[in-house]
Amino acid sequence: MNITNQTALITGATRGIGRALTDQLIAGGARIIAVGRDRDRLAALTADHGDRVVPHHADLADPAAVDALLDAVTGRHPDLTIVINNAAVQAHTDFLAGDAHRARPVARREIAVNLDAVVAICAGLLPRLRQRPAAAIINLTTGLAMAPKRAAPVYCATKAGVRTFTRALRYQCEQGAPHVRVCEAMMPLVDTDMTRGRGTGKISASAAARAVLDGLRRDRAEIYVGKARLLPALMRVTPSLGYRMLRNG
Ligand SMILES: NC(=O)c1ccc[n+]([C@@H]2O[C@H](COP(=O)([O-])OP(=O)(O)OC[C@H]3O[C@@H](n4cnc5c(N)ncnc54)[C@H](OP(=O)(O)O)[C@@H]3O)[C@@H](O)[C@H]2O)c1
Repeated sequence: MNITNQTALITGATRGIGRALTDQLIAGGARIIAVGRDRDRLAALTADHGDRVVPHHADLADPAAVDALLDAVTGRHPDLTIVINNAAVQAHTDFLAGDAHRARPVARREIAVNLDAVVAICAGLLPRLRQRPAAAIINLTTGLAMAPKRAAPVYCATKAGVRTFTRALRYQCEQGAPHVRVCEAMMPLVDTDMTRGRGTGKISASAAARAVLDGLRRDRAEIYVGKARLLPALMRVTPSLGYRMLRNG
């Protein structure tokens, strides 16, 4: 898909990979509907990019805010052609630590942002996207969707959910709306706030964004970025090794 003159909605556009995607899409000639929680960072985006960015403040953990976002986008942006579900949160939760009062609301929030909102945004915007001659949905996942890590059971489960949802939605579009590409972009470890203080061999957010947009330009259904490219083969050939390698991440 050609990026020039497209209108793209990006969730979590204010930081990390989402911010890099925003900058690179704008550099490629797109306009961005930027969704984030942090008003100062949204303001910084518009200061940097002017009218190439339409900021939308929303806490995606709140279903009412997601509904309001969908109403605003369907009402005001009939030219929407690209949706990138990038926003996510990752909590490290020990379910044996006995702190159920903390674990439950944190888990609900992760499920709401990482999975619920992704499904709602796809469902809400697909009718609009399918009216366009060509459109794309890109959902960001992680290798942890294939082989979870011990420390973040809910994050891994939500990303496995997004991976499966994305594939099944792609089947529907291939049949009923083949001009709408439904794509999964699987990230390796990327140097962002989400991974601060842990992991080695990270790639930059700009390198990750470049790989995602390269996959979009080439109409790839599955974009495996950096080391994530090795994972599908590893999980086919020796899943036990794959599970071992990722469990302590
Ligand atoms: N970093 C990695 O190593 C890595 C690896 C695999 C997959 N991924 C995936 O890549 C994507 C981006 O990750 P990242 O590392 O760039 O994350 P990040 O640096 O932590 O940024 C997260 C973004 O999501 C937004 N966000 C979080 N909660 C939100 C909420 N409730 N409502 C609205 N926006 C919310 C944040 O907005 P505010 O600024 O407003 O808070 C921020 O823009 C995620 O889907 C993640 O799972 C990342």
